[in-house]
Amino acid sequence: GPLIHSTSVTNLEIIPSALLAIDSSGIITALLPDVDPASTSTILTSLNFRPSLVEVTHLGPGQFIMPGFVDTHNHAPQFGQRGLGQGMHIIDWLDKITFPNEARFADTTHARKVYSQCIDGFLRQGITMASYYASIHGPATKILADVCLEKGQRALVGKCNMTANSPDFYIEASAEESIRVTEDCIAHIRSIDPEGKLVNPVITPRFAISCTEETLRVLGDLAKQHPDMAIQTHFNEAEQEMSFTQKLFPQFDGSEADLYEHFGLLREKTILAHCCHMSEHELTKIKALNCGVAHCPVSNMTVGGGFMAASVREFLRREIKVGLGTDSGGGFSSSMLDAMRQAMIASHAREVFSGGKDKGLTVAEVFHLATLGGAEVCGLQDKIGNFAVGKEFDGLVIGTLGDNQGIMTPVEDGEDTLATIFEKFIMTGDDRNILEVYVRGRQVKGGLELGWGWPPT
Ligand code: GUN
Ligand code: FE
Repeated sequence: GPLIHSTSVTNLEIIPSALLAIDSSGIITALLPDVDPASTSTILTSLNFRPSLVEVTHLGPGQFIMPGFVDTHNHAPQFGQRGLGQGMHIIDWLDKITFPNEARFADTTHARKVYSQCIDGFLRQGITMASYYASIHGPATKILADVCLEKGQRALVGKCNMTANSPDFYIEASAEESIRVTEDCIAHIRSIDPEGKLVNPVITPRFAISCTEETLRVLGDLAKQHPDMAIQTHFNEAEQEMSFTQKLFPQFDGSEADLYEHFGLLREKTILAHCCHMSEHELTKIKALNCGVAHCPVSNMTVGGGFMAASVREFLRREIKVGLGTDSGGGFSSSMLDAMRQAMIASHAREVFSGGKDKGLTVAEVFHLATLGGAEVCGLQDKIGNFAVGKEFDGLVIGTLGDNQGIMTPVEDGEDTLATIFEKFIMTGDDRNILEVYVRGRQVKGGLELGWGWPPT
């Protein structure tokens, strides 16, 4: 059936009649364009498939297949606080809303309940891969990793390190204690998914403000011991955060890039959330070190202060890796479609402020950010992000006709081109259009199972 994916930031591939072959371990073994559905079995035979061993699925009218969304920045414990405190400045919002909420994850029963809802909720939105910040608690972080694996979501899971400037009820006793729990979580994640097929650990200093120098130093040592492990932190998010960081670490002259680099935390698989305010020096540095940016336009425009999102055009111009993040409680939406739309809106404001220099983002560009761009940021570009042969099948079946047509501009079967249907879905669709979700070839959400009466008979 119809298939749409990004092969680069400038190339959106729209194939009206594709054959996508996936083996029993979830690997894509063939992608052929222009296939006549009637000759499917002949083609399968020519590809050395034994037709009796192959299950063939033809997509229905108005349906197409696309890669799953990659959410490069998500706080799982904030699932239940989404939408609260919008308009507050970052440090106030952390103190008043977020830290009291995250402290509740000392209770493992609470953690399992919220994390189950959280992963279900994100899978329902077609997010097949997410990079999660957990809370500071070891047992709850392990539960988050367990739940991702049980429910089949691909994930990076990081225990937050917080040893400074945090309330008594939500702080770790020392750098040693923080590292001990972090190593214990890493060991747990390695034990439940030894080959890291779905779930992997990520080193997660929350941000410099919440870490002592000692904590940043030992985390840098830990990173050195695990050269392939991802690292994530918040970076140049907002005025209140940047001036506090500068006050705590004056030796870095206001450069967070110099700060994190000094502690050995900037490298290829470092995911830097926000990057709203970047000096020339910092742009050059994160490019040279090949770090990626998690652009979180919804949270940037609602929580944080400054209320200005990063210039994605500038990152693209410099070929800095960039993807999208929902940021969970930092915003109000778990939908990557909302993040894509907000990225477009923010980029239009940037176009005006730059006197036309930073052109607004296109649908194809925000789609790239939400899929292949995010995979690059998370170091998973060889595994996911599009349907290149050899990658693992993380995909969504999108439906645009039938019971749910009222939630998009109604399209009459056959009247719109596939490109038009795609654009309408990106700009007006929602999770009701996401009929089926697959991770590594395993179905993790299906409309029929959820009783939505789809597809129509
Ligand atoms: N900076 C430190 N922690 C956080 C967080 O939880 N959300 C956001 N948006 N910024 C942060
Ligand atoms: Fe965040």
